[in-house]
Amino acid sequence: MIDRETQQRIKDAANIVEVVGDYVRLTRRGANYMGLCPFHNERTPSFSVSPKKNFCHCFSCKKGGSPVNFLMEKEGISYTEALLLLAKKYNIPVRERELTDEERRRMSEREEMLVASEWAMNYFHDTLYNTEEGRNVGLAYLYHRGITDAAIKKYKLGYSLESGRDLIEKARNSGFELEVFNKIGITGVWAQGKQYEKFRGRVIFPIRNTSGKPVAFGGRALRGEAAKYINTAETPIYIKSNELYGIYEAKPEMIRLDRVFLMEGYLDVISSAQAGLQNVVASSGTALTESQVSLIHRFTENVTLIYDGDAAGIKASLRGIDMLLSQGLHVKVLLLPDGEDPDSFAKKHTPEEFLNYIETHQTDFIRYKIQALLQSAGNNPQAISEAVRSVVTSIAHIPDEIERITYIKECAELTKIDESVIARQVGIAQRQTPDARNVYTQRPQREVGQQVAGERSAAEQLAPADGEKDGGKEKVPELYIKQERELLKYCIRYGYLQMTFDEEQISVINFVDEEFKADGIRFTSPVHERVFDLIRANHAAFNEELEHYKKSAEEKLAAEREAFRNRLMEEGGSMAKIRSEEKKFARREEASRAEMLKEFAIEYSVGYLLNHEDDEVRQLATELVAERHTLSVIFTRNAERPIAEEDKLEELVPRALSELRAEIVNRQVQELQKKVIEAVEANDVEAQKELMEQLTKLHHFRSKLAENLGDRIIAPR
Ligand code: CTP
Ligand code: MN
Repeated sequence: MIDRETQQRIKDAANIVEVVGDYVRLTRRGANYMGLCPFHNERTPSFSVSPKKNFCHCFSCKKGGSPVNFLMEKEGISYTEALLLLAKKYNIPVRERELTDEERRRMSEREEMLVASEWAMNYFHDTLYNTEEGRNVGLAYLYHRGITDAAIKKYKLGYSLESGRDLIEKARNSGFELEVFNKIGITGVWAQGKQYEKFRGRVIFPIRNTSGKPVAFGGRALRGEAAKYINTAETPIYIKSNELYGIYEAKPEMIRLDRVFLMEGYLDVISSAQAGLQNVVASSGTALTESQVSLIHRFTENVTLIYDGDAAGIKASLRGIDMLLSQGLHVKVLLLPDGEDPDSFAKKHTPEEFLNYIETHQTDFIRYKIQALLQSAGNNPQAISEAVRSVVTSIAHIPDEIERITYIKECAELTKIDESVIARQVGIAQRQTPDARNVYTQRPQREVGQQVAGERSAAEQLAPADGEKDGGKEKVPELYIKQERELLKYCIRYGYLQMTFDEEQISVINFVDEEFKADGIRFTSPVHERVFDLIRANHAAFNEELEHYKKSAEEKLAAEREAFRNRLMEEGGSMAKIRSEEKKFARREEASRAEMLKEFAIEYSVGYLLNHEDDEVRQLATELVAERHTLSVIFTRNAERPIAEEDKLEELVPRALSELRAEIVNRQVQELQKKVIEAVEANDVEAQKELMEQLTKLHHFRSKLAENLGDRIIAPR
């Protein structure tokens, strides 16, 4: 637990050029640096590092972010781990936050378990090599299975002696409270109170978390005992559904190759790694969970599932994959020859053959699913339609629209069904899929439109737009999302900059906030709203910082002024010259004061969000900060020169607001029109009249808005 202040100090110290420079050779390009992207393979540099914004961004693969982000992604570590790494780099002593007694108790209990677990892993490993029984039984077995010393060491395999007393003895001698081994599931207590070891006579597979700490163990029987494996039950340090076997060892290669191979068992992982396929993990024989998928997602988006090519394997391959798809992962399937698992298959082939087979036999999951299902459906129309439905459901889980469309096309081709039919079915399936990951589809939609309105009086009388109630499923307000992003972009980049509006000075964020309140608008996307709230909430802190900053800025300016005057005096010259130079200097000084304050305000809000601990917030901020300045090159009537975005906020921000409003009103008009038609069909004259009146008002309001927008659009001339 790093206390807030220290976190801030670390973030302040972290210099993006230095941090990235540890991984990438950077060359200077104007204000920025460029290099080859460390996240994907490329020949021409598209990785850009901005010292000014203290962040990096790959224009090709879109990865990057603040120094913390960069390290998280590059090293595959958590937020806190990245901070610690930076603290080390910049020699910042990490102060612990004061813990509450309860926290301290729980922390130290966990800590104690982790220490004991680590000790046990080393003990088992040591026993495997350095006892006679370990070598004769455990090591002999592993060699017999074809496992090499290198792999045994990499995965820290071990052995537990038959006697079932040795670990307990040694642990006691090492000063452990033996109770802790019960807690981590290595020992148990008989009814009469005697402590016993659970893994007696077994080969040990430590299960490590992403930072390499063993949190659980699996023990394989060697003499055909009933339980082939026993595994640690859940403990405070081991939540089974959160861990994946092999993740620690696979991590660097998962990142480097941007792919992971998912297998079933401990030995599959080890044999594959030994054959040269190192980006491998196992779900340990159970179905994949959501949190395991998120774990994978931290390192790569590309997953290949490996299955036995028999009927059961194929069936298994079709199960549970929609979850992977809905988390935005790109899934491939690889079927091994009938009856083989990666372990047996690797044993029968040379590493070259093994890797070659893997390389050439991966099939895109959806494609594979279509083929497998169509094949088994034969000519049976009902089976075919079921197959299509199942494929459609899978496609509906894919959050990325472009990817979805690609598959719809492909599905249409393979099934010879009309593309529009498939697309429609996917649309329906999407609405029936509550876990589709897209935040915009998930959210029960707020009635934004009804309360909107610039000329508020007209708006207040608008009828509630309660359309789209088909089964409570709402249409995705993609249109708003675009406008919301545009507006939010200004809030993120320039939230604390002052703009002049109606002859008053107001910060961008307060301006938007006030307009929103007046109109009764809020962001519809939860993450947009969260970011917006954060910027607002941080305003006071910014103001305070700004005061400090102003002081130091004034000191700096004063020093420069003094230096300037000294120079002027030394140079001498007429009084008139001195006076005119002074005047010029004063103007320059004013400009640089304004510039400094502006820079500070921009860096403050951008820096705050890019370093925020919430992944979603950071990601969105990174996107919106990196987004090409689509509007940054604007032209005024008298100037053909591009003008910096931040100097045109008075026009850009109200305009973005108006565009959002216009979109909301457009939608209301559509809703009303629909209702009018309904009323006509129902022959409800009263309702028709009422609705038409509302519609007229809305139209009127809309044209006002459009005028307004027109005014503010500054077209190139
Ligand atoms: N498993 C388990 N308990 C069992 C059987 C299997 O926990 N009784 C888990 C283990 O994580 C195992 C995985 O499921 O690694 C796959 O099972 P299986 O293919 O039967 O075992 P392998 O690891 O392939 O072991 P072996 O090749 O030695 O039979
Ligand atoms: Mn096996």
